[in-house]
Amino acid sequence: MFSSEEHQWKSVTTLLLLSFLFIQCNLLNGPSTEVKSPSGNIAVQFFLNMDGAPGYLVKYQNELIIDSSFLGFEFQGQEPMSKGFEILNIQHNTIQEEWEMPWGEQSRVENHCNEMQIELKEIGQTNRSLVLVYRVFEDGIGFRYEFPEQIGLDSLIVLAESTEFQLTEDHTCWWIPGDWDIYEHLYNTSTFSAIDAISKRNHPNLAQTYIPYNAVNTPVTMKTRNDLYLSFHEANLTDYPGMTLRVDKGKLKMTSELVGSDRFGYKAKIGLPFKTPWRTIQISPDAGGLIESNLILNLNEPSKIENMDWFKPQKYVGIWWELHLGISTWNIEGGKHGATTENAKKYIDFASKNNIGGVLVEGWNTGWDHWIGFDEREGVFDFVTPYPDYDLEEVVRYAKEKGVEIIMHHETSAAPRTYDTQLDTAFALMKNLGIKMVKTGYVGEIIPDGEYHHGQWMVNHYRRVIQAAAKNQIAVNAHEPIKDTGIRRTYPNEISREGLRGQEFNAWASDGGNPPEHLSIVAFTRMLAGPIDFTPGVFEMSLPSKPDNKINTTLAHQLALYVVVYSPIQMACDLPYNYKDQAGFQFIRDVGTDWEETRVLNGEIGDYVTIARKEKRTGNWFIGSITDEKRRMIQLDLDFLTAGISYDALVYRDGERASYKINQTDIAMDTLLVDQSSKLAFYLAEGGGFAISLKAKK
Ligand code: NOJ
Ligand code: CA
Repeated sequence: MFSSEEHQWKSVTTLLLLSFLFIQCNLLNGPSTEVKSPSGNIAVQFFLNMDGAPGYLVKYQNELIIDSSFLGFEFQGQEPMSKGFEILNIQHNTIQEEWEMPWGEQSRVENHCNEMQIELKEIGQTNRSLVLVYRVFEDGIGFRYEFPEQIGLDSLIVLAESTEFQLTEDHTCWWIPGDWDIYEHLYNTSTFSAIDAISKRNHPNLAQTYIPYNAVNTPVTMKTRNDLYLSFHEANLTDYPGMTLRVDKGKLKMTSELVGSDRFGYKAKIGLPFKTPWRTIQISPDAGGLIESNLILNLNEPSKIENMDWFKPQKYVGIWWELHLGISTWNIEGGKHGATTENAKKYIDFASKNNIGGVLVEGWNTGWDHWIGFDEREGVFDFVTPYPDYDLEEVVRYAKEKGVEIIMHHETSAAPRTYDTQLDTAFALMKNLGIKMVKTGYVGEIIPDGEYHHGQWMVNHYRRVIQAAAKNQIAVNAHEPIKDTGIRRTYPNEISREGLRGQEFNAWASDGGNPPEHLSIVAFTRMLAGPIDFTPGVFEMSLPSKPDNKINTTLAHQLALYVVVYSPIQMACDLPYNYKDQAGFQFIRDVGTDWEETRVLNGEIGDYVTIARKEKRTGNWFIGSITDEKRRMIQLDLDFLTAGISYDALVYRDGERASYKINQTDIAMDTLLVDQSSKLAFYLAEGGGFAISLKAKK
């Protein structure tokens, strides 16, 4: 007699052996069921087990990193689709192209991978077809399901997608809970088997949160015992729900758990033919490689927008931080209205004097007396009616005169149907005024009841907004968004988004604000998805709104964020008053927002990260480095600078007394002349950082 554990082990071994034989049979009978990255470093093997259940495994340099993992679906009114398949056909292709980013972390992107398309058909009565497509790059893999057109099947109602990721060990993970409504959780560091998403329920500062299972949201990043870095996410999320990954601690396995709709009682309704989003695993031998990876973008479709010249990456200021600090209010009642004509003009003057292109004005339109805390929020905001003390035309005219753009604000208060019906008039107004950018927001539980921010219904809403905006040459920065899955390649007017715990939490969170390590985790998790509107640049570290909170970084760390955190729009979020006579503000004036090249110089997740970016057109470089709560020395080798050019470097670093706990604004500045042969070393204080601008000498 076997003990039950032994028995299980024996059956797993038998299963693997049989799968292996099957792979061999497939190999003998036809095209290979294996596909490798161009260098051969990464390999994916597809197989059908004895029951005809489809599965795959992944290797990196011959080391198993994803063990046998199965794939399948459950549908309403249909048999599940998870076994009884045979392989009809396998096709191998190579994709090799270069494409240009209209704006981004770099100008040109190489897309080089090997592809394997596997056509499957059910043998039994159901006889349905399914195509699996794997693409294997040097920086990871992506795979997706394609449901071809088939007789008698126009659409499918998906109750579950079960895509498995069988881990090989109990990796260290950086995770946020699989919340169906929001990504604004602090990142947790734990082994896989210690992930406890349920413990993150009911955060008092979240106006919307729903964590139904022990699952994580993506990107979720892991480090193996052999120092390999893995990040799981998805690419090209179109007309489908967002994917969370359910955690099976015992089996060390993740299984896709799609965000659902209580209203419809299913996860997704798909019309055939249909291609699901790509399920992705970024793989790198060093942490920085994850940030440099373009896998997510490469798995998206080329741009549908021919001309993006109308959008200029830029810095912006705005009537924003003062609202979160409680100095002024969004609404007019109470006599502290922030968005007055006069106040907006002050920000415009400040922007125009300081090489800052945009001014955001929140609280300009009627409706703010009836948003958070009200259940009935349909039809409240109309996005065209300003408060009486805000002369929209005059503000826009004044901004133009000063060479500054106004950024529109549309807080929908999570009433997307109202926004849908107002979109045309809202965008027409913007177009008439020549406003090219909008920040949208979806605070609160989605109306109608039973829908969630990350479900298929909302994914489609967010996309409609992007498409309508594209038609009007409007760029969108969404807050409380659906996560980024690289759609900016197809719709480059989707310029940035929140989708993480941003700076605003420091102003009012009841848990003490963001810890010093926050951004050194975000860089290797959330940032792998795409641009982040984090809103850096706080210089006044004490917070009148919340005396118990403070900004848990040094000033030099805040400056470094303009380089470390990528976004084509970067806010200088503090009050103009707080930048007055501050030497460090010169870095914000100078720093670029559009890059020809990006290099991650070093980094360990949750500890530190240093990134260098080369500005388009000027050829100037900017470097940002941040550390967690530990102080450390960082060595820099400037060998990436262009040969034969010397650079005037202006360094902003932590002063000797600086720490995130006290003397946060102690900052030292040095000027240096450097070139490709220069090697530098810098001290970073606890919660500190450094920022360098390198101007190419003519
Ligand atoms: C939440 C957003 O993240 C924040 O930036 C904005 O100020 C408020 N909602 C109001 O729209
Ligand atoms: Ca750390």
